[in-house]
Amino acid sequence: MTEFSQLPRHLAIIMDGNGRWARQRGLPRSAGHKAGVASVRTAVEQCALHGIEVLTLFAFSSENWKRPEKEVGMLMDLFMTALRGEVKRLVRNDVRLRIIGEREAFSGKMQRKIAEAETATAGCTGLILQIAANYGGRWDITQAVGQLARRVEAGELRAADIDETRIASALAFADLPDPDLMIRTGGERRISNFILWQTAYAELYFTDRLWPDFDQPAFMEALRWFDGRQRRFGRTGEQLMGERLGSGDR
Ligand code: IPE
Ligand code: IPE
Ligand code: MG
Repeated sequence: MTEFSQLPRHLAIIMDGNGRWARQRGLPRSAGHKAGVASVRTAVEQCALHGIEVLTLFAFSSENWKRPEKEVGMLMDLFMTALRGEVKRLVRNDVRLRIIGEREAFSGKMQRKIAEAETATAGCTGLILQIAANYGGRWDITQAVGQLARRVEAGELRAADIDETRIASALAFADLPDPDLMIRTGGERRISNFILWQTAYAELYFTDRLWPDFDQPAFMEALRWFDGRQRRFGRTGEQLMGERLGSGDR
């Protein structure tokens, strides 16, 4: 059992700081990305252990194509290797893998690997692990609006029917709960075009720790911080206290 009185159902992480971690050690940036894989394993294990339902990791943003060609190539290779190497471990741990983002931009080979990894873990019923690859919050909203516009054009939907629920249902992971907690490592206090619409009420946790150093104690510290948040969703603290008292132990 877990020591927390509230845990996120959906945790999203901006895994930042690999490059700086490597630079601090006089190593090439690629060494930082490789070291970051161990932190991914830790995060997956910890989520499974605490019964968190969904973990979404920002692995490559829509804007990361702007990096030097060599680094982009290295990240693609690492992604491919991880897809190949980690699937067995995911199946063993009952983790279902999904990739979110504009996958058409990836090579045919990569797209096949992604599809294979998703199929191999499709029967798993534990943690859902979403890897955001070539993902951008603006891309997500834009593709959702495009889907709805096409349905209006086809006469299936009227413009007047488009409300928040319809937009939400066209987004990348409409079948899953919105992120409750978003963690960013690496010291920056920004979203960098990660999940936008669905984080409207997420708690935001920023830490200076670099992603390869984000170990189990660091993960626990973030969960403890989340546990201390009062999630008001626009209401007052007094209203929430009243509800708690009125509903007994629930
Ligand atoms: C995050 O680490 C990983 C990716 C964006 C792929 P960075 O590569 O951004 O590391 P820093 O921010 O340069 O330290
Ligand atoms: C965000 O990190 C993207 C990922 C972690 C994949 P960046 O390092 O790309 O963000 P900026 O450019 O510093 O905002
Ligand atoms: Mg960075």
